[in-house]
Amino acid sequence: MIKGNLVHLRPFEKKDAEIIASKINHFETLNAIGRPFPISLFEEEDFVTMAMQQYKSRKGYFFVIEENIENNIVGSTSLSPVDFRNRSAVFGITIFEPKNFEKGYGTEATTLITGFAFNILNLNRVELNVFEFNERAMHVYEKVGYKKTGTRRQFYYINGKYHDAYMMDILAEEFFDLYGRGTIPKH
Ligand SMILES: CC(C)(COP(=O)(O)OP(=O)(O)OC[C@H]1O[C@@H](n2cnc3c(N)ncnc32)[C@H](O)[C@@H]1OP(=O)(O)O)[C@@H](O)C(=O)NCCC(=O)NCCS
Repeated sequence: MIKGNLVHLRPFEKKDAEIIASKINHFETLNAIGRPFPISLFEEEDFVTMAMQQYKSRKGYFFVIEENIENNIVGSTSLSPVDFRNRSAVFGITIFEPKNFEKGYGTEATTLITGFAFNILNLNRVELNVFEFNERAMHVYEKVGYKKTGTRRQFYYINGKYHDAYMMDILAEEFFDLYGRGTIPKH
């Protein structure tokens, strides 16, 4: 378990699919992750199986985010794919229910998994993609230390309009400058 003040990260288990399928189906959430259609239990079960297989084979690292008080699942986060030759990974995060946005969970989970990438996996670089309209996510990523590096023009289509996406990344040296080496970062 990777433990912070508000949340902890733990690997996926099969039983999580049903809980996640019951929480994730909010348009605001699904639109922000580029999957603007309801997710079925069948699909979520496949996702959880894939997440567990990648974790077991160390090809990707998928975690459930649980809040620390009652251990309720509030989201998920991942490093996938991980490129161990270039020591680089793609990061993603979803807090499932809008009622749980803006409680600090996303900031802490982002910091924890980024610290895991550099302190435990010995990666050198973590990158992400974020849609231009997702100002909350961009604020969180910048607060943690990610920097905008480029634009993927007209990357995502929804409701009659294309939206750009931004690429952001953080290097190990930048993370260590902010948080120190070998520490579990706290926000
Ligand atoms: C984006 C997401 C991970 C952020 O996590 P969170 O737990 O809601 O965010 P936090 O509570 O940690 O922090 C929110 C911050 O954004 C700020 N914020 C909120 N709305 C904002 C906006 N429209 N513009 C700029 N900043 C905003 C808050 O003030 C807060 O900043 P502060 O702590 O400096 O005051 C989460 O909301 C989420 O998963 N949303 C749905 C799916 C998604 O967007 N995934 C990411 C895809 S790239």
